[in-house]
Amino acid sequence: MSEAGAALDVLLTEERRFPPPEHSRKGAVVADRGPYERAERDRLAFWESWAEELDWFEGWHTVLEWEPPHAKWFVGGRLNAAHNCLDRHLEGPRRDKPALIWEGEPGDTRSFTYAELHAEVSRLANALKGLGVQKGDRVAIYLPMIPEAAIAMLACARIGAPHSVVFGGFSPEALADRINDAQARVLVTADGGYRRGGVVPLKLNSDKALEACPSLESVVVVERGEELSRGIEVPMTAGRDHFYSDLVAEASSECPAEPMDSEDLLYILYTSGTTGTPKGVVHTTGGYLTQVSATTKCVFDLREDDVYWCTADVGWVTGHSYIVYGPLANGATVLMYEGAPDWPRNDRFWDICARYGVTVFYTAPTAIRAFMKWGERWPAKHDLSRLRLLGTVGEPINPEAWMWYHRVVGGGRCPIVDTWWQTETGAIMITPLPAVTTTRPGSATEPFPGIRATLLDDDGNEVNAGFLAITEPWPSMMRTIYGDEQRYRDTYWSKWDGIYFPGDGAKYDNDGYLWILGRVDDVLNVAGHRIGTMEVESALVDHEAVVEAAVVGKTHDVKGQAIAAFVTLREGVDGSQALEGRLREHVVQKIGAIARPEIVVFAADLPKTRSGKIMRRLLKDVAEGHRLGDTTTLADPAVVEALQMKYGGEED
Ligand code: WT7
Repeated sequence: MSEAGAALDVLLTEERRFPPPEHSRKGAVVADRGPYERAERDRLAFWESWAEELDWFEGWHTVLEWEPPHAKWFVGGRLNAAHNCLDRHLEGPRRDKPALIWEGEPGDTRSFTYAELHAEVSRLANALKGLGVQKGDRVAIYLPMIPEAAIAMLACARIGAPHSVVFGGFSPEALADRINDAQARVLVTADGGYRRGGVVPLKLNSDKALEACPSLESVVVVERGEELSRGIEVPMTAGRDHFYSDLVAEASSECPAEPMDSEDLLYILYTSGTTGTPKGVVHTTGGYLTQVSATTKCVFDLREDDVYWCTADVGWVTGHSYIVYGPLANGATVLMYEGAPDWPRNDRFWDICARYGVTVFYTAPTAIRAFMKWGERWPAKHDLSRLRLLGTVGEPINPEAWMWYHRVVGGGRCPIVDTWWQTETGAIMITPLPAVTTTRPGSATEPFPGIRATLLDDDGNEVNAGFLAITEPWPSMMRTIYGDEQRYRDTYWSKWDGIYFPGDGAKYDNDGYLWILGRVDDVLNVAGHRIGTMEVESALVDHEAVVEAAVVGKTHDVKGQAIAAFVTLREGVDGSQALEGRLREHVVQKIGAIARPEIVVFAADLPKTRSGKIMRRLLKDVAEGHRLGDTTTLADPAVVEALQMKYGGEED
């Protein structure tokens, strides 16, 4: 953490202060520190008041049952997430309000009012039932960013079938692993999706995956577009595969929402950890919906006429909580875009903001750094005056990017909410509130009301710089790792007693503001995507030419971190440039393009301790071009010096 610590010392001298602008205060959802005070006095009553904002078929008898590490929230209550996102908005004027406005990468558009979205979700829900899906059955979703992604999630929620969304950029193997771990019965996919003008062949990928998925019975195939279908192969297996349009054409638009227990599974979402296999993070219904809807409303200060755009993909938790469940539970108008920010030109996002009058914009620091690199002239071409609030998520934002975002995108008038949270936390945990908090560029500021966080050392002592720790349960917390309770306990609850360990380091400044430093474990954050070093290593050693591999992160000016792989080859294999390329592609094939190593270094040996443990810390020094840290525990110090020579020689 020494290097991050040094970077932080620079941050802590950050003197710039941004009090909430006057215009943000008028009519704000949270206009003063009242909620902080209420939650401080009675945390459970605070969360209960947010649960009461939802529609329940049956009330709860107990707000929280906490037997560490297991929490049950709103015990005894019954509700349905899709009902809360759709049906309850149909009574009043929101019935005909746009719920979802969508734009495809080629420029095609579609839009659904709440009434239309409700009907479509109900039809697909009935179609899934027709395929034999019952309450509790898992449904895998592998789709591009098209309306059917949200529709499929809500259709599952409506009938009580937990969904497992798999990011469309994942490889067939990664998809198969996730389908098998969840034992999914049905897969919802598409013929393909657009990315940078090209087509991602999702159905072909799915077919490859399904060769290894015995639990899977049926596939629903969304036709992304006629033009697209003509361009790529969409083989259909009789008896197993069905076109989405055929199924919904026959289905009724009446489908009662299944009353779910507050603690029934809403979804499983896989995320990377420190071992080779991803973890199925389990989220349940009542607590999750309570915290995502509360945070969406307060953090984004939602107003009835907002056009809200979160640029995440539904394949990640941000898409689950802040494209689908949070905004729709609040009756918001959600914008959804299929493709890349630089297609056909570098101003695609600003063009969309201007044309649809986006008011709230939520994106990742890596995207902001890319925009900075492309230059101010791209946003300058468009009228961004409707924007009133900006957000970031996914990794620490450097003050320079924060300032650029504030000045160039926000025109100096929009508050920025830097929101810290994780797949496991389900919803935003540490964040400013736009009309209340004076922000500092680079700081996530303070816990949301009702969240108790602190900084601890290994022994559980409170410190000014150390591990971030969540000391009390919160409604949207993960409930377990699907099928692996032991891993749940070991990963998150074994460091301290009854206290959650998120895996991040953080520091307080002199005024008590929180600054999140990043992961303290072997998890990388590459362009806002979480990737375990072990996953990439497993993919590399799976290649016939490789005997051993060690993966570390190297600081990257746009992606935050890039993947650097140190690889030892089998006796007699030459480390050619062609092999470098093949190894990169092998990782892409095993995991997906997000895990493609940027740097591959062939190493005769890897630096190891006398007990044989690879010292990643030293490899990181090599990758970053730093002076080597302590090498005294190495079995053979010459190994790392040789690597440094080699690597130093290779750098441009
Ligand atoms: C990890 C969680 C939360 C949705 C997107 C990522 C890092 C996230 C911030 C932030 C500093 C952040 C942490 C965290 N992170 N937001 N505002 N400031 N770091 O979800 O894939 O589960 O990754 O992202 O390291 O542990 P995820």
